[in-house]
Amino acid sequence: EKVVQTKEERLPLLLGVIGDPIIHSKSPAMHTAALKACGIAGTYLPLHVKGEALSDAVQGIKALGFRGINVTVPHKVEVMKYLDIIDEGALHIGAVNTIVNNGGVLTGYNTDGVGYIRSLKEETAPDLEGKTVLVIGAGGAARGIIYALLKEKPGQVIIANRTADKARELASEWADLGRINGCELESLGDFLPKTDILINTTSVGMYPQVTKTPIDLGFLPEGIVVSDLIYNPLRTELLRQAELKGCTIHNGLGMFIYQGAYAFEHWTGCPAPIEAMRAAVLDSMR
Ligand code: ATR
Repeated sequence: EKVVQTKEERLPLLLGVIGDPIIHSKSPAMHTAALKACGIAGTYLPLHVKGEALSDAVQGIKALGFRGINVTVPHKVEVMKYLDIIDEGALHIGAVNTIVNNGGVLTGYNTDGVGYIRSLKEETAPDLEGKTVLVIGAGGAARGIIYALLKEKPGQVIIANRTADKARELASEWADLGRINGCELESLGDFLPKTDILINTTSVGMYPQVTKTPIDLGFLPEGIVVSDLIYNPLRTELLRQAELKGCTIHNGLGMFIYQGAYAFEHWTGCPAPIEAMRAAVLDSMR
């Protein structure tokens, strides 16, 4: 049977990322490389959108016929009220980083958490079932990761946060999704001896504060998995010290790549060309 392609369908695929600031985003380089590797005619643009323009910008996605948009800081929560459909995971997490435009109907997804878990599994810890996972931080990034983590049936998740109440609130909010507890950052040492995987979701240790660690590493058990969401620098002080203790280390680069990979797959239906995307990001970091 002959497939008739309309002129409309031959237009290049329009993609982009909205945020404020946006100039340093590595998403345009990564997705441009992905489009090229898949032979898809399209463009991925950095779009500088301020808070007061967010509503108009989202209408613009429909008006201009963008197929997909990534949403970054500070719009991930606010953007939700302008969308038509919110995916269940994004609704639980309370943040959207990917919008898909299906003929004028906008659906919001969160690919950050699943992207992180896929990266963690592929790069370090293939089986999370039954594991004890200690998460430092209880903000937006932690929510995404913990939600995706709970789908892997970990034995226990402990959230340690500077503001302990925030950790406890998050633990009670998701108590029906798994065995999950919240505590203060200072009590983290009590849980370290039985921890299999330690994940830092805070920005402590990020450039330019590269000598800082989110916790005192004196009691870090040897040989566990230590993961940091930060990817600038690729090796934070936390990861550097963990490696000296014989730990398997994992940085945030894979999370960035796989959140993009899931977004790309939502928009194009093509398997994301992971290695081309990774190479483009690494190249743009030089
Ligand atoms: P994100 O979306 O990146 O997670 P966020 O929602 O502002 O950003 O959350 C930041 C997280 O890092 C919080 O858990 C925060 O702890 P508080 O809830 O006590 O604010 C944590 N955090 C940030 N700076 C920190 C620091 N210097 N020491 C310890 N925790 C810190």
